[in-house]
Formats: sequence, structure tokens, C-alpha cells
Amino acid sequence: MSHAPVLLAEAMDALALKAGGVYVDATFGGGGYSREMLARADCNVIAFDRDPDAIPRGAEMTAQAKGKFTLHQGRFGDLSPDEAVDGVVFDLGVSSFQLDEGARGFSFQADADLDMRMEREGNSAADAVNGLSEVALADLIYNYGEDDESRRIARTIVQARAAGPITRTLQLADIVERAVGGRKGARTHPATKTFQALRMLVNDELGELARGLSAAEGALKPGGRLAVVSFHSLEDRMVKRFIAERADAQGRGSRHTPDLPPERAPSFALERKRATAPSDEEVARNPRARSASLRWAVRTDAPAWDELEPPALATRAEAEWKKLS
Ligand SMILES: C[S@@+](CC[C@H](N)C(=O)[O-])C[C@H]1O[C@@H](n2cnc3c(N)ncnc32)[C@H](O)[C@@H]1O
Repeated sequence: MSHAPVLLAEAMDALALKAGGVYVDATFGGGGYSREMLARADCNVIAFDRDPDAIPRGAEMTAQAKGKFTLHQGRFGDLSPDEAVDGVVFDLGVSSFQLDEGARGFSFQADADLDMRMEREGNSAADAVNGLSEVALADLIYNYGEDDESRRIARTIVQARAAGPITRTLQLADIVERAVGGRKGARTHPATKTFQALRMLVNDELGELARGLSAAEGALKPGGRLAVVSFHSLEDRMVKRFIAERADAQGRGSRHTPDLPPERAPSFALERKRATAPSDEEVARNPRARSASLRWAVRTDAPAWDELEPPALATRAEAEWKKLS
């Protein structure tokens, strides 16, 4: 069991690693990015993962790197602006370890408790499935799963749970499949988007991404590089907007005062506007790379902007979720 790092060479090139540099691997996972950074340059790497299970995987690297590598259990949003680093890389989503260990409940490939908590704390996916109203479930599956069948799925979940709580991954996958039919010829299982939506809610993934991007902006030195690999359009849109707004030299005071000079100097410079997608060869080798996209930018010497607000999506589901917690 291992995790094949996605867009590895492309992300490393984006970081433009240099000897003596200090780099943050915001999402350690199986350590593929950290290992490559340490191999490519005589640099220091500070890594984070919010999942306690990821931490022992860094023990060997810590021993071999002789003080040049540290791994912290924690959220990347907690990265301190006092760090002053030369690069921050995010490889979002879940690792193959999390997916393959059925007991974590991230995958419908194995029967397990409907858990999905990266930190193993707080309310689980089962709490959401059994505790949210039908309207909130539909809101969640539509906005975070981007699934047009959200209402039908929510209705079927609510009907099913009237007979008893939904506690298992395969139970939920069957319910979703029953709601929408088999979707013949589809490349993905019909429950994929519902599982994604639940995972995002349970782990506050968009809120974390907003905090993480702002934390990186605060910690990067002038000339330092931000690189983000995302796996679905909601994340990618957030990253794209974050970078584009902060790199906009034409930025206006506001749309109501278009003639005013920019209020804030650009905190990033954009050298490549378009996202980088994996090669066909990588996708053939690693199907998980299929939806990946990399964006990167270079920090300027302007002060960091105000903290990014996550998009107000699935507001009904988020409000009910907060009450459950
Ligand atoms: C796709 S994997 C990273 C894989 C890694 N690049 C590699 O090559 O092995 C994503 C990892 O990020 C972690 N993660 C997700 N959100 C996080 C957050 N807010 N803070 C810290 N770690 C997070 C997950 O627990 C998971 O282990």
C-alpha cells in the first residue's frame, strides 16, 4: 500500500527549489512531495498533516534527513506567518492510505463505519447523514457534490433512515445507487459525489483551504512560491480566484469606484495563468490523477491581504451541521 504522488515533477518545478531554502509540505500524506523536495535540493522541509495516522509514516524521513525535516500533526491553516518560508505546496484531498484503509470510511469500495473524519475527532459522516434535514442534505449534495440528482438522493436517504440509522459506507452507496439508478457507462460510481460532499462537510475542507491559502500568503517571503494541486472544481475555483485577485495589478478599489487606484498592491505575481493538468501518461498510470490541476504563483513583497473568506456554499447544510456539533 502506498500513495502515488500526483503532478509531482510539475509541483516541484513550480516551487523552483533552491539550496538553503525552507519549504512547507502542507499535506504530507505518504510523504511523496517531502521526499522529492529533500532529494532535489539541500533544503529544509516543514510538513503538516491533520491525520494522526500520517505521522508515523514520517519517522524514517525524520531520522534520515538529519534535522532538515520536521512533521507536525496539525492543520495547514495553523501555519504561522512567522515562519518566513521559500515555498508552500498543497496537495489537497485524501491520500491513498486514507482511501485504502476501509475502516476510515472515506471509500465505498469497502464496508466500514461511515466516518470520514481526517482527525478522528468530532462528528462523523454518519452524524450528517442521519442528522441533517432533507433540505440540508440536498443542499449539501448539490453544492459540495455538484450532483444534479441531489434532491432525489436526499429524499431516498431520508426514506431509508426512517427504518433505522445509516451507519455503513456500503449501505449509503446502495441507497444512492437506488436513488439514481446504475448510470450505465458512467466512469465513476453514482455515490462518488455524495461521498465527496460529506467528506468536505465533515472536514470543513473549503474553510480549511481558505485559511491555508491565507496562512501561506502570510508565511511566504518575497520571491517565495505557492503551489496548489486540487482535485475538483470547487477547490480549483477557490485557488484560481485567490491567486488571480491577489496578482491583479489592475485591481480596483471596488466595482463601485472603478476609477480609484488599487487599494492593495498585488501580493502575488502570476507567471502562468492556466492550470497545469497531468499528462496522459500519468493518468494512465494513476487514475487518481485524472481530475488534478496545479496552480502556482510567486509572492511579491507587498503585505498579505485580508484573510480569504470561503465561498458561501451549502449554507443550509453548514448551519444545521454547526448545530449538530
Ligand atoms: C493527497 S494527500 C497528500 C499526498 C502527498 N503529497 C504524497 O505525495 O504522499 C492529502 C493529505 O493532506 C491531508 N490534509 C487534508 N487537509 C489537511 C489540512 N487542512 N491540514 C493538514 N493536512 C491536511 C490529508 O490528511 C492527506 O493525508
